[in-house]
Amino acid sequence: MKFDTPAGANPIDRLKVVGKPTDRIDGPRKTTGTAPYANDWHDPQSRLAYGYVVGAGIGKGRIAGMDVSRAEAAAGVLAVVTAANAGKLDRGAFYVARALAGPDVDHYHQAVALVVAETFEQARAAAALVRVDYVRSEGVFDLAAAKDTAVAPKAGPFVSPEAKAGDFEAAFATAPVRIDESYGTPDHAHAMMEPHATVASWDGDRLTLWTAIQQMNWGVRDIAKTLGIAKGNVRLVSPFIGGGFGGKGTILSDAVLASLGARAAGRPVKVSLPRPLMFNNVTHRPATIQRIRIGAGPDGRITAIGHESWSGNLPDGPPETATEPTRLLYAGPNRLMRMHLARLDLPEGGAMRAPGEAPGMMALEIAMDEMAERLGMDPVAFRVLNDTQVDPENPRRPFSRRQLVECLRRGAELFGWERRVAKPGQVRDGRWLVGMGMASAIRGAPVMRSAARVRLDGRGMVTVETDMTDIGTGSYTIIAQTAAEMMGLPLDRVVVRLGDSAYPESPGSGGQWGAASSTAGVYAACVKLREAVARRLGFNATDAVFEDGQVRAGNRSEPLVRAAAGGELVAEDGVEYGDLAEWFALQTFGAHFVEVGVDVDTAEVRVRRMLAVCAAGRILSPKAARSQIIGGMTMGIGAALMEELAVDARRGFFVNHDLAGYEVPVHADIPDLQVSFLDEIDPAASPLKAKGVGELGISGAAAAVANAVHNATGVRVRDYPVTLDKLL
Ligand code: MOS
Repeated sequence: MKFDTPAGANPIDRLKVVGKPTDRIDGPRKTTGTAPYANDWHDPQSRLAYGYVVGAGIGKGRIAGMDVSRAEAAAGVLAVVTAANAGKLDRGAFYVARALAGPDVDHYHQAVALVVAETFEQARAAAALVRVDYVRSEGVFDLAAAKDTAVAPKAGPFVSPEAKAGDFEAAFATAPVRIDESYGTPDHAHAMMEPHATVASWDGDRLTLWTAIQQMNWGVRDIAKTLGIAKGNVRLVSPFIGGGFGGKGTILSDAVLASLGARAAGRPVKVSLPRPLMFNNVTHRPATIQRIRIGAGPDGRITAIGHESWSGNLPDGPPETATEPTRLLYAGPNRLMRMHLARLDLPEGGAMRAPGEAPGMMALEIAMDEMAERLGMDPVAFRVLNDTQVDPENPRRPFSRRQLVECLRRGAELFGWERRVAKPGQVRDGRWLVGMGMASAIRGAPVMRSAARVRLDGRGMVTVETDMTDIGTGSYTIIAQTAAEMMGLPLDRVVVRLGDSAYPESPGSGGQWGAASSTAGVYAACVKLREAVARRLGFNATDAVFEDGQVRAGNRSEPLVRAAAGGELVAEDGVEYGDLAEWFALQTFGAHFVEVGVDVDTAEVRVRRMLAVCAAGRILSPKAARSQIIGGMTMGIGAALMEELAVDARRGFFVNHDLAGYEVPVHADIPDLQVSFLDEIDPAASPLKAKGVGELGISGAAAAVANAVHNATGVRVRDYPVTLDKLL
């Protein structure tokens, strides 16, 4: 299908619904507790049974023996699933950890058994009766210690192990002004509100999972591969998801174990992971060690930029791609980006909100602050000077839209950046040392193949179906806005059905691609529906205007609903982009500005003000987009000041594996966050000229906080989180 229609001919450019700050259409169901999450699925007819996971008690080793007899004999127990009776299990294609240990144990809290019983309480009680004898072996749990064993990771769809331009080493060696520093980011937990949960039900060979995942297509692929069944025999249902942040990219142990438990018990089985199991059982954002070298002339122009990153993972697990943002963010002819991957026996490292950019920018944007200081330049001016409008590795590839400089300038103005005192430690407000910091933001905005089905019924309602998910982001709303706009209807004439793998395939929620991709698929299906409507009503499709519930051309006007008088109209279509990324660097941009106070005696850090200015194409729903950005900023503040999975490097596990020990920001930690979007459209990005914003807000945010702490105190912390012990 084509979307390069002249301005004005495309309904997306005469907006009545898209671009308005709409309340979430799914809000009332969520606030009244009537939105069904995975753990809420109860079918009174189905004799639902409950599974409880037993997690491995060692970080690395082998199961020498297991006694499940007492558990099997316990009240209400229907089955105990272990590696001994589960049959052959493969691994998924995205997450690589095995859902069930045995005989080898690959990481702490890897499941060793699932106990299935009539009630949750019976399953939990019986799980405590499973006896496991472990033989512990030597594991590698400490990234710093394993750093020298790291090798180049395998290239993959999301992984470019090395990227170069010019001659970095020579240019860096001769640069008049240089920095060469190392930075550390710790392991992070997604810590989403809704724990992983699945209800599995078999009907002969056919498996249905009511579960909580972000990408239906990956989930179907991965559960089929893991269990060795046909993809066509799998249906996933995930209409509401209580946060994911990449931790629910595809199926995890709850889905695999619920499927096995349901097969063993001959009944539907529900498995939800208890919070204290989650942190070590599922995935996390891996820790990194990063080395950044920047060389510049005395004028501040970057001549050499090098970024190397070390991370660890289980065998076959990917690296954290922390060097990615540095490939595109600043100009400079001589460049070197390199990833190193060590084998670690910790739980699996995986994607977490802005994988690559989030930890990479935590380092890069401190390094830029240090470099500006060394040059005696203002950090905003230093970044503006080193802007580029083309891919620095490939000057023939422009950015589809890049307004980083405008974000920086507007942010500086709105925030009152000119009041910043460049020399650190100079500003005092009572017991607080006050400082300002800033950072750029960049995050990829890929668009993926996406399809949808729309139908117009005899009541004049339009129903949209796509397997896109809404992980709390606003997908329901922006999809309804798109369909309403296209069909010339108010929002309340549109019904949106998401999160069912039986619907046309979308790429789901991940990589910040969901908003642009899924609305593109809906746009395409609506174009097709408009053509069908025009045919039924005897209009020429290219002349027909869809507005106010009417279809008009010339001086004839017909109610839209009349097109369905002879029976419902259904249209299905999708958008696929081919080699778009070869032509354009598709990215979103932003600038963060932060003011902190640091207690002069205790070094307690409080964020006092924070602003993000963002450029991300057309903003489909300013309200939902703002929520995404402030959510990202909040997570960035957490990453700057508190979030850290503490590794027990002797026993090999994350010690603080619950929400009491794993600190995330609460309301009292977060001041009024300001967000400003540039008025931008990006015609290359999607038919709606929109890009996603779900991961832009976290990118750079933590470094802006760290830079503000430095400005307040003069102490440069390069090892996150910036806790008070590092400031005293
Ligand atoms: Mo995201 S971390 O690509 O869900």
